Amino acid sequence: MDNYKIRIAGRKRLSGTIIVSGAKNASLPELAATILADSEVLLKGVPNVEDVNTMFNALERIGATGNFDHNKVNINLSNIKEPVVSETISKTSRSSILILGPLLARNGYARVSLPGGCAIGDRKIDFHLEGLKRMGAEINVEDGYISARSKRLKGADYTFPGVSVTGTENLIMASTLADGETILRNCAVEPEITDLITFLESMGADITGQGTDTIRISGKDILSGTSHTVIPDRIEMGTYVIAACLRGDNIVVKNCIPEYIGSLLKILELMGVEITIIKDEISIKVPGRLKPVEVNTDPYPGFPTDLQAQLTTLLTQVDGVSHIRENIFNNRFKHVIELNKMGANIAINGNIAEIKGISGLKGAYLNATDLRASASLVLGALIAEGETYIDNAYQLFRGYEDMPGKLNKIGADISAMKV
Ligand code: EPZ
Repeated sequence: MDNYKIRIAGRKRLSGTIIVSGAKNASLPELAATILADSEVLLKGVPNVEDVNTMFNALERIGATGNFDHNKVNINLSNIKEPVVSETISKTSRSSILILGPLLARNGYARVSLPGGCAIGDRKIDFHLEGLKRMGAEINVEDGYISARSKRLKGADYTFPGVSVTGTENLIMASTLADGETILRNCAVEPEITDLITFLESMGADITGQGTDTIRISGKDILSGTSHTVIPDRIEMGTYVIAACLRGDNIVVKNCIPEYIGSLLKILELMGVEITIIKDEISIKVPGRLKPVEVNTDPYPGFPTDLQAQLTTLLTQVDGVSHIRENIFNNRFKHVIELNKMGANIAINGNIAEIKGISGLKGAYLNATDLRASASLVLGALIAEGETYIDNAYQLFRGYEDMPGKLNKIGADISAMKV
């Protein structure tokens, strides 16, 4: 993956419309699910981001034919050639673990390189493996690879020990071709899972319980090709709504499904932000000084951990002391040291960030440590005095489609240089 340095000139007046792209975290499981189909699948509204390109490349190595351009994926995995996901893939994007379930269910054998940890904390997969074992899979983990084998998975009744988004997605996909009924309990209920179920049903899967934490799947012999449009990306949506709170009551965020970010909108209203929703458009007014808040990150519909860093940036502009408790990952505050370089006043105590505002932020030389941290630094740079440079900005391009272009279109001054 190419690396970039981003330069941002702060305090530009932003005004105009930002259009939200399709959801990265729905596109990834849905691409993996194409392994379950015996004919061509058309996925529309797929964001052109690095993590999706990595997933597409992984599927090509497994045997997929097709192409990905202009946000459309045509893909056909009727022939599985090489049921392997190498470490070059899993090192680049942890979500390649989503291939394990469907590939094992379709092919009877799958060999997937263990996803590395990453900057935001432990990224365990014990729930995924335990669930597949419960369905009769033989699982070996050695030399950095997971080898999974099963003539045919059997329906099982499995309760997740903890809520896991990709764990839920992996086991739902594996169950669609299992022999008999699978009941999955204590499932995650993120909108991306609901969209995956809609997608699987359009391929002929028999699934009930969509939108609840108990999903029942009656296995089939094979699924068929389909055409599906991916839901909008709620984390991108939330990121730009926060940008509007920071830099402009003339910004409209379009292609939104407001209820997907209901927890964020509620917090913004508590802070004193005025929110206007007209169909799929969200716009913001900040009538006066914003008020401090206390926030907990939680599984959906709670406040998403993927917006924690971005909200932290906004809270530096609030008059008073706010706290965010990060309950999902054990090391997701790497953006704090970078924001403090800009003049923020944030202290970390265990899994709690204490943000004292108002801090006047100044441009600085920063380092992007992970995807959502990089977004929080861009937001900080938009309001900082002077120029900000962000190294390792490839992180941003992993999950945001053309953020510099979308922001420049409404008046920002951002340039990205390949390094
Ligand atoms: C998904 O990751 C998202 N990624 C993450 O978004 C998101 O932050 C996360 O869910 C939480 O919402 C994709 O959907 C591709 P988890 P996932 O399994 O599935 C523990 C982004 O920025 N756990 O729900 O990997 C785990 O350690 C990314 O787009 C186990 O202990 O997260 C964590 O503490 C970052 N054992 C917690 O559960 C397991 O087997 C939640 O993890 C699985 C998870």
